[in-house]
Amino acid sequence: MEESLESKFASLKAKNMKIDLTRGKPGSDQLDLSNDLLNLSIQVENSTGIDVRNYGDPLGIPEARELGASLLSAPVENTMVGEQSSLLLIYQLILANYLFGLENPWKNQRDLKFICPVPGFDRHFRLLNDFGIEMLSVPLTGTGVDIQKFQDLLTEHQDIKGIICVPRHSNPSGDIYSDQNLLDLFRLGKDYSNEFLFILDHAYLLHDFAPSSSQTPSWELAERCDTLDQTAIFCSFSKVTFGGGGLSFAAAGKKLFTLLE
Ligand SMILES: Cc1ncc(COP(=O)(O)O)c(C=O)c1O
Repeated sequence: MEESLESKFASLKAKNMKIDLTRGKPGSDQLDLSNDLLNLSIQVENSTGIDVRNYGDPLGIPEARELGASLLSAPVENTMVGEQSSLLLIYQLILANYLFGLENPWKNQRDLKFICPVPGFDRHFRLLNDFGIEMLSVPLTGTGVDIQKFQDLLTEHQDIKGIICVPRHSNPSGDIYSDQNLLDLFRLGKDYSNEFLFILDHAYLLHDFAPSSSQTPSWELAERCDTLDQTAIFCSFSKVTFGGGGLSFAAAGKKLFTLLE
């Protein structure tokens, strides 16, 4: 058995195939759909007289913030615009917690842990790993996180700093979290600690072609559970127009927003 597996592996290896296993890459035919955007003639001054070709406002020009706020169903004053990558904004949030923190910076704490639904996104894992944060995995069920297992982890461990998850079309499994699942996550995480962070990576918020399960905006669900101060929600146009060539957005409750700012 082992021998045949090894010889199969050797013969595949001998083919010198180069297969790109990175996830979340739009296909060339999808990218083609956006080509005309590059030739659009645009009005260079916005409504407040800012030349939009120049460096904008640190939190984004008002029109871009309004657009982000409408996508994330969050108030404009809680929404900022990043550059191309929402992943970089998430990185920034982890870094800000690590260096400055809301109360006690993570760099002064030991045994940092984060909950990660699996299967999940390799770049989230890499990010947490960069900060020496231990990852505790929790299975996905098809409609979100296994709540019993999530609760078990919270009971078993101290020092869990939060959860990072993709609530809609979670890659690679495609899970769409139910409203109840998100409400349960918010409720249990908040009961665990009022510093428990909910990082909602909504990279696939805008990707429904075929009919799929609807979801109440995460902002609204967090508001219902009174967890906005512990919640940050991200999305971008990376997989809407050109990969890594659009705008990214973050919405967060006031305290986290100020930290991220
Ligand atoms: C879940 C998830 N988050 C974030 C990203 C990257 O998004 P961005 O290009 O905005 O950094 C991807 C894809 O690459 C992704 O699959």
